[in-house]
Amino acid sequence: MSYFNLNAIILAAGMGCRMLSDIPKVLYKIGGKCLLQHVIDAVMQLGVKSIYVVYSSNNGRNIMQTIDTRHYTNIPVHWVLQRHLIGTGNAIQQVLPVINDDEDILVLYGDVPFISCKTLRELYGLKSKCDLSMLTAILNNPDGYGRIIRNKEGMVINIVEHADIIDNIHNTIKEINTGIFVAVAKNLKCWLHEVTADNIKNEFYLTDIVHIAHASGCVINTMHPFDLFEILGINSKSDLVVLNRKYQKKQADSLLSSGVMIIDPNRFDLRGTLVHGQDVCIDINVILEGHIVLGNRVQIGSGCILKDVVIGNDVTIFPYSIIEDSKINNFVSIGPFARLRSGNNLLGNNHIGNFVEMKNTLFGKYSKAKHLSYLGDAEIGEYVNIGAGAITCNFDGFKKQRTIVSDHVFIGADSQIIAPVVIGKNATIGAGTTVVKDVADNDTVISRTEQFSIACHHKHSKTKNSV
Ligand code: UD1
Ligand code: CA
Repeated sequence: MSYFNLNAIILAAGMGCRMLSDIPKVLYKIGGKCLLQHVIDAVMQLGVKSIYVVYSSNNGRNIMQTIDTRHYTNIPVHWVLQRHLIGTGNAIQQVLPVINDDEDILVLYGDVPFISCKTLRELYGLKSKCDLSMLTAILNNPDGYGRIIRNKEGMVINIVEHADIIDNIHNTIKEINTGIFVAVAKNLKCWLHEVTADNIKNEFYLTDIVHIAHASGCVINTMHPFDLFEILGINSKSDLVVLNRKYQKKQADSLLSSGVMIIDPNRFDLRGTLVHGQDVCIDINVILEGHIVLGNRVQIGSGCILKDVVIGNDVTIFPYSIIEDSKINNFVSIGPFARLRSGNNLLGNNHIGNFVEMKNTLFGKYSKAKHLSYLGDAEIGEYVNIGAGAITCNFDGFKKQRTIVSDHVFIGADSQIIAPVVIGKNATIGAGTTVVKDVADNDTVISRTEQFSIACHHKHSKTKNSV
C-alpha cells in the first residue's frame, strides 16, 4: 500500500489538567521515551507524507525541545499552534487549511502512545471501502472514553463523550472511541465546519464529526486494534503507572521468550533498548536505561541500575551496583554496591568490589580494586592490585588531573595518589602512603610515619619535665 497521500495529525496541545502537573502530559515517559515520541515513531514507521503535531503556547517550547525529529530525514514534521484550547475539533481545524482536499488524514492522539504500525496499516486499508474508517475497541471498563453509539443495523451513528453521558443505556456501552481514524481532508473539512461547542465542556469535540458524517450519508466503518494495549490513553498519573507496568511486562515477556531469564517480569524495567547474548539472567528490580548490550552468561543482581553500558561475556554484576556509560569486557565481576560513573573501560578479568567508585578510568586486564576505592581519570595497567581504601586525588581545585599506574603495580591500602602522577612498572606503594611524585619502575615507596606509643612518649616527657 502507498502512503504518499496520507498525512498524520497528532494532537498534543492539551496540558493534561488531570495530571495535576506543570509538565505537558505528552512529555511524560514510558520505557525511556515520551508519550508523543512513541506516537511519532509509530507513524514514521508507517511512512506517511507529512506529520503535523498540534501544540499550544503553554507546552510548545517544551515539546519542540524534547521531541527528536533529527533521525527522520524523509518525513517532515510540522508544528502547528492551537491558540485556544477549545477542543480536539478545533485542534484539527488548525491544520486543515494546509492540506489539499484530496489528501487523506490519519488522526492520532499524543496521549495514546502505543498504537502499532500494523493496526494503522489495516485502518488505512479499510478507508478505501468507506468515508470514515475508525478504530474502536471493547473495554470492560470504558470509563473516561467516548462511547460508540450504533443503530439497530449496527451502523455507527454517534459518539457520546464520557462527561456528557446522562443516559443509563450509554453507560452500559463497552465499545469506545480510540480517537484514531482516517478520512479524506475534503470530508473532514466539511464535517468540522458543522461542529459546535454545545456540550457539557463547551468544547469543539472532534468526535461530533461522527453524527454529522452519518447524517450526510457517509459510510463509516470500524475495526479493532490487534492488541487492546495499543489504544489505552493516559489522562492521569495512575493511568500512566498502569500503562507503564503493562509496557514493562510486555518487554519482560518478550525478553523471556528470546531466552533472557527475567526472574520476575513484574519487577523489571527497560527504559531503552537491550541487545543480549545467551543465558543472561536479570534478577528483580533491575533498571536498564539507554542502550544496553549484554554478552553471553551475564548475570545482573537485584537492584542494579545500568545506563548505556556494553558488557562482554561471563560478567557478574552483584546487587545494588550502578553503572553508566561504561564498557566492561569478559570475565569481570562488579559489586555489590559498586558505582561506575561515565567513561570507564574495563579490559577483562577484573574484580571491582564493594564501595568502589570509578570514573573515566581505563582498567587493565587482571587488575583488581576490591574494596572502598575511588579511581578517577586514571589509566591502570595489567595485574594491578588496588588496596582497600586507596584513592586517586584527581582534582587539584581547578582541573582534573590524570593518574597513570603501570602494569604489575601493588598499591597498598589507604594510599592517596595525588595526580598528576605516573607509577612505574612493578612498583610497590606501601599502605597509607601519600604519593605526591612519580615512582620509578620496580621501586617501593612508603610515606607513613613510624609507629610509636603515645603512652611511652608521654611518660618519657613527664619524667623529663620533673627533672
Ligand atoms: C478523547 C476523545 C474520546 C476518546 C479518547 C481516547 C474527544 C472529544 N474525545 O477524550 O472520545 O475516547 O480521547 O483516548 O476528542 N488536545 C488538543 N487540543 C485541545 C484538546 C485536546 O490538542 O483543545 C489533545 C490533547 O493534548 C490530547 C488529545 O487531544 O493529546 C486528547 O485530548 P483529551 O482531553 O485527553 O481527550 P479525552 O478526554 O481523553
Ligand atoms: Ca486522553
